[in-house]
Order: sequence, then structure tokens, then C-alpha cells
Amino acid sequence: MSATLIKGTEIREEILEEITAEVAGIKEKHGVVPGLVTILVGESPASISYVTLKIKTAHRVGFNEVQDNQSPDISEEDLLALIDKYNNDESIHGILVQLPLPKHIDEKKILNAIDPDKDVDGFHPVNVGRLMIGGDEVKFPPCTPAGIQEMIIRAGVETSGAEVVVVGRSNIVGKPIANMMLQKGDGANSTVTVVHTRTKDLEGHCKRADILIVAAGVPGLVKPEWIKPGACVIDVGVNRVGEKPSKKDPSRMVAVLKGDVDFDAAKEIAGSITPVPGGVGPMTITMLMKNTLKSLKFKLGIN
Ligand code: GUN
Repeated sequence: MSATLIKGTEIREEILEEITAEVAGIKEKHGVVPGLVTILVGESPASISYVTLKIKTAHRVGFNEVQDNQSPDISEEDLLALIDKYNNDESIHGILVQLPLPKHIDEKKILNAIDPDKDVDGFHPVNVGRLMIGGDEVKFPPCTPAGIQEMIIRAGVETSGAEVVVVGRSNIVGKPIANMMLQKGDGANSTVTVVHTRTKDLEGHCKRADILIVAAGVPGLVKPEWIKPGACVIDVGVNRVGEKPSKKDPSRMVAVLKGDVDFDAAKEIAGSITPVPGGVGPMTITMLMKNTLKSLKFKLGIN
């Protein structure tokens, strides 16, 4: 039997439509729209393509979107001054500094300079702390984990009392999603185990999972026999394993992407599974939009 596909591309459309409607309502009632600034330092093609998509999505849902491109040799001091300017700009509710930054800039110092109440990436230590406390304290959950939790909820997967196993302990995905799944609340109340490169029996832990969340960055790490029959499998891995000619324009090469799970075999065992591409990936920018809207709603006191 084949698993149900949890498609991020479809869930994204649902959520973006909800956001668009909410933005239009707020605009009518309060005369404001969410403002998102995306700061891009340098010209890395991957960063340019991420930022372009963020701006395009912000425009689509009716935000005031600002793309602030800076030269790769901007000084740390000037970048800090720029952040300070947006911290004090009433029309801006979300500030995103695209990572990675050039080597001469201290990334931590930059992220820590963003006003935690405009930190829609959820990377500032204040927001990491708020997430740890949980409940009403949480303002901006980081976008990829928030997207994972939203997919699990919208797929109708029972999380309360479920055994959740998270493979990977990064600050951006593994640690926050583990924390979110164990909190009290909808789409949570789970029993959570985090496994990583030093874990002794990776397979044994994975086999117990009702919900298996894999964010290891190792293509095909999770084998089909590691999956409990009927489990929900969330594959966060986006690994470039080669190139192929583009379908639209065969003269152009595009990346071949593979997840951390052996998808073709896993889908015969899992109850539900996210594909790569088209699974978790599209959810990250979607949740960035949701966080930016939340930021304006906090400011207006309408949460
Ligand atoms: N670079 C790659 N992904 C991200 C992200 O989610 N946020 C930021 N700020 N930079 C990134």
C-alpha cells in the first residue's frame, strides 16, 4: 500500500490564500499592511533566488515588501546601522537578513541586533527562549519547524501522546521542532526523542516513531526498514545529488534533489510522507509570511 503524500506545494497555497484574505481585512479595517524587509549582502546565486522568492511571495499576499541589496564588502558597522534603521521604521514589521553573510561579518552579532519583535526568522536568542517556554510566550517560531508542525496538523496526524523521533540536532530545525512537539497545545503534546551522529542505535529509535522527522542532511540516510508501518514521515533533507536538463528549457541544467529518506521504498511502508522536492521546502517561506503577518497583528493588538 502506498502512503498518503503530504504536499507542501498544496498546503502552501491554502495558507497563502488565508494570509491574503487576512491582510486585505486588516488593510480595510486598520489601513495598514505588513511590511517585510529582506536584506541581501552580496551576490550568491542561491541567496538571490531565495530572496527573490520571498519578495515575490510577500508581494502576492499584499505585503509592503522591501528588498535591500548591499555590496559584499559592506562593513559590519554599516550593516548594524542599517538594521537599526529598520528596527526604528514603523512601516516595517519583519526584518530578514539572508544567511550566510560574508566572512568578515559576525553573523551572530547581526542576528542579535534585530529587534526581537521584528525577528520573523525566529533566530534571535529572545525568540529561541520564548519558544522554549512555549504557550503564549511564543511570538515567532522558526519558519521550517513551524512549517513542519503545520503540515502535520493539516494532514490530520495525531500528535498527542505520539512517539516523535527527530533525526538531527541543528539550531534551525532539529532542536526547535523537538521543543515544539513536546509543548502543550495543538499539533504537539508528543513524546520526543532527538537522535544524532553520536546516537548508538539510530535504527532502533527510528523504528519506534509514530512521527519521524528527518533533518540530517544525508541523502537516503533513513532506510525503509527503519520506518514503523503506518508512520508519518517528514523529510526535511534537500540534498543536491547531481544535475539534469530542465524540463522547460533542456539547454539549462537544474539540480537533482534527494531527501534524507529513501522515498520510493519508504512510501510503501509509511502511512503518510512528504516528497522531496515539494514537501517541507515550500513551507519555509509560507511560514515567514505568517510570522510577518503575526508581527503586525501583535502591534495592532488583534491576536
Ligand atoms: N538562508 C537559508 N535559509 C534561510 C532562512 O530561513 N533565513 C535566513 N535569514 N537565511 C537563510
